Amino acid sequence: MEAKVEVSDHQAVLRADGLSKSFGGLKAVQDVSFSVHAGEILAVIGPNGAGKTTLLNLLSGVYRPSTGRLHLLGRDMTRATMEERCHAGLGRAFQIVRPFGEMTVHENVTVGALFGKPGMRLPQARELAQSLLESTGLAAHADRPAHELTLLQDKRLEVARALATQPRLLLLDEVMAGLRPAEAQEAVALIRSVRRSGVSVLFIEHIMPVVRDLADRVVVMDQGQVMAEGTYREVTTNPLVVAAYLGTEPELGSGQPQSEQTGQVRA
Ligand SMILES: Nc1ncnc2c1ncn2[C@@H]1O[C@H](COP(=O)(O)OP(=O)(O)OP(=O)(O)O)[C@@H](O)[C@H]1O
Ligand SMILES: [Mg+2]
Repeated sequence: MEAKVEVSDHQAVLRADGLSKSFGGLKAVQDVSFSVHAGEILAVIGPNGAGKTTLLNLLSGVYRPSTGRLHLLGRDMTRATMEERCHAGLGRAFQIVRPFGEMTVHENVTVGALFGKPGMRLPQARELAQSLLESTGLAAHADRPAHELTLLQDKRLEVARALATQPRLLLLDEVMAGLRPAEAQEAVALIRSVRRSGVSVLFIEHIMPVVRDLADRVVVMDQGQVMAEGTYREVTTNPLVVAAYLGTEPELGSGQPQSEQTGQVRA
């Protein structure tokens, strides 16, 4: 069994060991360890304020951890800048979408492509942007200013911009928030197609049917710590998780944990 563990360790796209981050006296993330394997879709769930976004900020380099180490594709990136992490293969879509509103949709994605990889030339970046607009269903809107997009189109643009940096691992923070169920299904299909293109995905999500449909594995956070980890079935039948987050049988619920503030996108 030892050998099997080693193999999966070699395949880790990302490995976090004992990451912590405090804000004053508040331990927002406390001794968090987990891996994302090649080709895997990993969900991070947990109540509001559990530390999920802070964890993503530690992974993408917005914050430096007060303790712990982070490896990307086997390289120690604990102290690397956001740009270095991006160049090493980490792409990120934010919880609050902020496209450049006056620029066209195509220009927004081109900017992502230009900054994602050192040495990327403008024609090449434009071409990559065009192909990403096609795969994210935005090609018909390429020449419109980004501020004209609907919420669903905004989310698609955010994913396209992150993919334009050509990541090996895509980090998504509540990209489904505020979407209608049919739109969320489209977003699920988009994330599946991202994985098929060889990109691993780590996503934060409150909508449990989306977690069930997408995630190979689920990490549950509560009060800054990892409370449980396993398949969707394993974590949603874990009494600790039910008590801290789900409240009721998840299969029977509306798909929104009781702690969720429906439709609100928060900082
Ligand atoms: N920049 C900051 N300064 C001070 N406290 C912060 C900061 N960012 C987050 N926190 C606090 O850290 C804790 C974790 O917040 P975080 O945003 O990571 O939670 P979350 O799991 O993403 O929640 P949500 O599901 O509501 O998005 C919360 O108590 C929050 O108030
Ligand atoms: Mg959050």
